[in-house]
Amino acid sequence: MNKNIAVIEGDGIGPEVTKQSVNVLNAIAKKFGHKFNYSYCLLGADAIDKTGSPLPAETIEICLESDAILFGAIGHPKYDNDPTLKIRPEQGLLGLRKALELFANIRPINTYQSLLHLSPLKIKIIENVDFIIFRELTGGIYFGKKEINSDGTIASDECIYSKMEIERIAHLAFQSAQQRRKKLTLVDKANVLETSRLWRKVVQEISSQYKNVELNFLYVDNAAMQIILNPKQFDIILTENMFGDIISDEASVISGSIGLLPSASIGNKNALFEPIHGSYPQATGKDIANPIGSILSSAMLLEYFGLIEESSLVKKSVQWTLENKFVTKDIDSINFSSTSTIGKLIVDFIEK
Ligand code: IPM
Ligand code: MN
Repeated sequence: MNKNIAVIEGDGIGPEVTKQSVNVLNAIAKKFGHKFNYSYCLLGADAIDKTGSPLPAETIEICLESDAILFGAIGHPKYDNDPTLKIRPEQGLLGLRKALELFANIRPINTYQSLLHLSPLKIKIIENVDFIIFRELTGGIYFGKKEINSDGTIASDECIYSKMEIERIAHLAFQSAQQRRKKLTLVDKANVLETSRLWRKVVQEISSQYKNVELNFLYVDNAAMQIILNPKQFDIILTENMFGDIISDEASVISGSIGLLPSASIGNKNALFEPIHGSYPQATGKDIANPIGSILSSAMLLEYFGLIEESSLVKKSVQWTLENKFVTKDIDSINFSSTSTIGKLIVDFIEK
C-alpha cells in the first residue's frame, strides 16, 4: 500500500512524540511492504514564529491532499497569559479541524493491567474499563460567534448546533455501539441548554434506526461524577464539543495518564490522528514525554487505512512495553524510561 501522510509536529513535546510515531510507521511499512510518504507542515506557535500565521494556507493544501494527517500537539506558554492577543496557536488546530470538516473526534478510554495500581482511583473501579468518547469537533461554543463590547467589559460565545451536525456524528456513534456492547450514552445539559434539547431530540429520532442499541441520557455534571464513580457502565459516550473536551481529560485519569490516550478526528474526506494531550511545555526537549498517545494515534491511522493486522501489532507492542513496566515519567516518576527509549522498544518489538 502506498499512502501520503501529512505530518504536523506542532509545538512543545509535539515533535518528540511524533518522531517516535513516524519511526513506528516506518517499521510497520518495512515489515509489511508498504510505502508511506511524509509531507511535513506547520501549525500553531511554530507556524506563527515561522510564517506569522497559526494555520498557513500551505498546511491546509497539504492536508487536503494527504490520505491521513498525523498531528503532535499545540500551544505555547507565551500565548497563555495574555488574553488580548489576536493571534493564538490554538486557532491553527481549530481552523484545520474546521477547514477539513473533521466533525467526529473519537477518544477510546481503556486500562492496562500493569498500570492499575498507579491510578489515583481504586483498582476495582477501573479494571476492565473500556469505552469510547465520540466528541463533536467542529461545532458548538468553540465555533459560534465570539463578541466583546467596545470597552471590554462584556463578552459572549455563542453555542450553536444544527440537526445535520448532530446527525452525522450520532450515526457514527451508533454504528460503533453496534460493533461493541450496544449501549450509547448521550451526555448533555438538556435541563438548561436549548442546544442540548436539540441533541436529545435528534439522537432519539436516529435511535429508531439502531433498535439493538440501548440509548441513555446523562447530564454532563452527573456524567463527570459517574466517570469517576462507575466508569464500567459506559460503552459509547456521545457528546458535544466542549463537554467532550472536558470529560475526555477527566477520563484519561482512568487509563493512568493523559499521555497514553490517542484520538482520531474524522471527516467525510479527511482524517487527522492526534494524542489528546497538549504541548506539555515544561517537558519540551527533555526526552521525558509519553510517546504512547501519539503511537496509538498512529495505530488508529493504520486502522483507518484498513491495515488491521498492522494496527494490532502496534497496539500489541505498546501493551508489551507497559506490561514489562517500560513507562515514561508521567506514569512512574521513579522507574521511568525516556521518550526515545520507549519508541525504540516499540520499534524493536515490531521488527522481531
Ligand atoms: C484537545 C485540545 C484542544 C481542544 C485545544 C488545544 C484547542 O484541548 O484537542 O482536546 O480544546 O479541542
Ligand atoms: Mn482538550
